[in-house]
Amino acid sequence: MELLIAPLAIAGIAGVLAAFIVVVDMVANNYGEVTIDINDGKKEMTVRGGAPLLVTLSSEGLYLPSACGGRGSCGACKCKITSDVGPHLPTETPYMSPEELKDNIRLACQVKVKADIGIEIPEDLFNVKQFNATVKSIKDVTYDIKEVLFDLGDETVNFEAGKYIQLVIPPYNKIKGSTQRAYSMSSRPANRNQIEVLVRLVPGGIATTYVHEHLKEGQKMDLIGPFGDFRRTKSDSIMLCVAGGSGMAPFKSMLNDMLDTGELNREVWYFFGARTTKDMFYMDEMKVLEEKLPNFHFVPALSEPQEGDGWNGPTGLITDVLDSYLKEKINSEEKVLEGYLCGSPGMIGACNNVMNDNGVTQDNVYYDKFA
Ligand SMILES: Cc1cc2nc3c(=O)[nH]c(=O)nc-3n(C[C@H](O)[C@H](O)[C@H](O)COP(=O)(O)OP(=O)(O)OC[C@H]3O[C@@H](n4cnc5c(N)ncnc54)[C@H](O)[C@@H]3O)c2cc1C
Ligand code: FES
Repeated sequence: MELLIAPLAIAGIAGVLAAFIVVVDMVANNYGEVTIDINDGKKEMTVRGGAPLLVTLSSEGLYLPSACGGRGSCGACKCKITSDVGPHLPTETPYMSPEELKDNIRLACQVKVKADIGIEIPEDLFNVKQFNATVKSIKDVTYDIKEVLFDLGDETVNFEAGKYIQLVIPPYNKIKGSTQRAYSMSSRPANRNQIEVLVRLVPGGIATTYVHEHLKEGQKMDLIGPFGDFRRTKSDSIMLCVAGGSGMAPFKSMLNDMLDTGELNREVWYFFGARTTKDMFYMDEMKVLEEKLPNFHFVPALSEPQEGDGWNGPTGLITDVLDSYLKEKINSEEKVLEGYLCGSPGMIGACNNVMNDNGVTQDNVYYDKFA
C-alpha cells in the first residue's frame, strides 16, 4: 500500500509546485494581453500572457494532444512556433529530432506565452472537442483491465478508428491538480454518441488508479479529443496487427469499423499476446468477427500457459509466433504487407524488427506507443 501511495504523493506535490511557480511568475511579471496567431492568420486569439502555451490554448477551447497532462514527459504536445520565444529548454530537447530543433518545433507545455506569438498546428486540431460525458458502464475484462463506456448525451464524436481520447482526471486524495492521460478508443466510430476505452491498471499510476478505484457508473467525466494519426490505410494491403493487454483497443475499433463500412474482404492477421489465460480477453468477440469478416484471422498466443489452462492455441513470445506465421502461413506474393503495432515501446520495437526481417518495409509499419 505504501508502495502505491508514495508515487501518488510525489506526483501530487510536483503538480502543486509547478502550478505554484506558474502563478508566482504571472503575478511577479505582468505580461498583459498578448496575441496568438495560428496558421498564418487562420485564427487569432487575444489572451492573458504568462501561462504555458498548452494551457493558454486549451483555456480558449483549442486543444493540443497531451498524454502526460503537461508534465513535459510525453512529447505529444509538439507544435511549430514561427516567432522568437527563445532557445529550446533542456526539458524539450530529448523529444526533438535534429530536424525538429532546426524547424523550431517546441513542446507547448514548456513554452510560456510572454509576448505575441505565431504557431502552426494541424488543421484537424480545430475539430477537437471537450465532452462532459457520463460513465455508462465499467466492466472488468481481466483482473487489471477495465472497459469503460462513456455516454456523450446530446454531443457526437467524429473519429477514425485508431484515434485516442484524453481522460481529464480530477484531483483526488493527495493528487491536487487535474491531469490528463491518453486512451485509445475501442468503440466503433459509427456509434457517435458513445466512447469506450480499455484502461490497464499501472500500480501507483495517477489516472489508472483513479479509473480502477474511484470512478463509478453514473459519474461525469471530461474527455478531450479525438487525437492521433494511428489509422488503417485505405488499400487492399494485408494488415498484420500485433497487440497485448489494453493494446487491443484500437484494433477492436478498426475491426468493427470494417464491418460497419462494408470493408469485409480485406486480409487481416491479428496477433494478440498474453502471458496466461488470465490476461486473455474478448475471445468471443474476436470469434464473431472471424465469422463476419471472411479474411480476418485472430491469433491469440500465451507466453506462459499454466497447467490446467486447457490452452490449445499457439504458445511462446508473440514475436516468435509472428515470425513463424510470416514464414509459414501468410502468403504475401501478390499483396503488400502492412504492420500495425500497439502497446509498450519494447513490444513495438521487437515486433517491428521481426516484420522488417520478413520483408515488411519500414514505411509500411504504423504504430501507437502507449508511453
Ligand atoms: C497515444 C496513447 C494511447 C494510449 N492508450 C492507452 C489505452 O488504450 N489503454 C491504456 O491502458 N493505456 C493507454 N495509454 C497509456 C496511458 O496514457 C497512461 O500512460 C497509462 O494508463 C498510465 O497512466 P497513469 O496516470 O496511471 O500512470 P502515471 O502516473 O503516468 O505513471 C506512474 C508510473 O508508471 C510508469 N508508467 C506509465 N505508464 C506505464 C505503462 N503503460 N506501463 C508500465 N508503467 C507505466 C510511469 O513511468 C510512472 O513511473 C496510451 C498512451 C498513449 C501515449
Ligand atoms: S503535454 Fe506531455 S510533453 Fe507536453
